[in-house]
Amino acid sequence: MTTPHGRHSTPEPDASEPDAPAPDAPAPAVQETPPAQATARDLVKTYGSGDTQVRALDGVSVDFARGRLTAIMGPSGSGKSTLMHCMAGLDTPTSGTVTVDGEEVSAMSQRALTRLRRTRIGFVFQAYNLVPTLTAAENITLPLDIARTPVDREWFDAVVDAVGLRARLRHRPNALSGGEQQRVACARALVSRPSVVFADEPTGNLDSKSSREVLTFLRQSVDELGQTVVMVTHDPRAAAYAHRVLLLGDGRITADLDAPSPAQILAAVGAEDEEPAPVTGRYAAVPGPPTGPLAVIGAPSRARRARRTDDAAGTTGTP
Ligand SMILES: Nc1ncnc2c1ncn2[C@@H]1O[C@H](COP(=O)(O)OP(=O)(O)OP(=O)(O)O)[C@@H](O)[C@H]1O
Ligand SMILES: [Mg+2]
Repeated sequence: MTTPHGRHSTPEPDASEPDAPAPDAPAPAVQETPPAQATARDLVKTYGSGDTQVRALDGVSVDFARGRLTAIMGPSGSGKSTLMHCMAGLDTPTSGTVTVDGEEVSAMSQRALTRLRRTRIGFVFQAYNLVPTLTAAENITLPLDIARTPVDREWFDAVVDAVGLRARLRHRPNALSGGEQQRVACARALVSRPSVVFADEPTGNLDSKSSREVLTFLRQSVDELGQTVVMVTHDPRAAAYAHRVLLLGDGRITADLDAPSPAQILAAVGAEDEEPAPVTGRYAAVPGPPTGPLAVIGAPSRARRARRTDDAAGTTGTP
């Protein structure tokens, strides 16, 4: 099978069968890879020019399948947010193409992009980005209200029930917990029944209980509501909710894992690092932010460290 997934260095036993389940994984619910909902081809994004140029994406080709939850991991600065932004039409790639629903996002006018973002793309930010003066219900329907699109009550109810917020709909954000606020933000991203939802570290500000609530909802929105979700995370436990996990390193896809367990994710992430951290079973019991072996996931990549050194040299005038 020709792989649409870009570069592979998948540590699976048979790399010629990228869709084969891991040996100890349960049988996948989806037997065949469904058609792609969003694609990137040879995506390159550079920032700046000359000596200070940063190649945030260095030729990424990937298909995000319909009805699946994909997690994207990788060190800080590896290009995860840049990829999300280019896919969602929030940023323009330097070269390469992005399609959503078969339409080429990278070729769209500003007007078409605005329409695309309102109707076909949901985006969840790490910082929730709710409007403090609006209730939870008003925040959820805000994109539809701005677009003057009538709310599909049946779908709204399905989303609100899936997110478990029915009793909190009249509350304003400051009366909601972080997890509840992020679930409102997830519901807002889903209310227009988008083709695909991109979530950039949706659990980055949350404790482990709230993280579980948000992740459960994101997975449910895929399994029960048929949505397509692409999520960036630094946490292998969060990534383990996904059908598929991609690793990015220095702007490239370095691994593509099918329904991996947290231990397999940790092993793959460790293998990406120059000094692999020991993989232990302790992570499952460790609440809160990554420590020990998990810390490598947030560590700057080699190129990033080099760039930082260059930056420091530039600002201090060191030759
Ligand atoms: N607007 C910008 N101008 C210049 N450089 C940028 C800009 N946005 C991102 N970069 C650079 O591009 C590279 C990729 O950044 P990006 O934000 O995509 O990384 P990331 O993987 O999301 O990191 P993190 O895990 O820290 O969020 C980094 O080196 C970053 O400094
Ligand atoms: Mg980021």
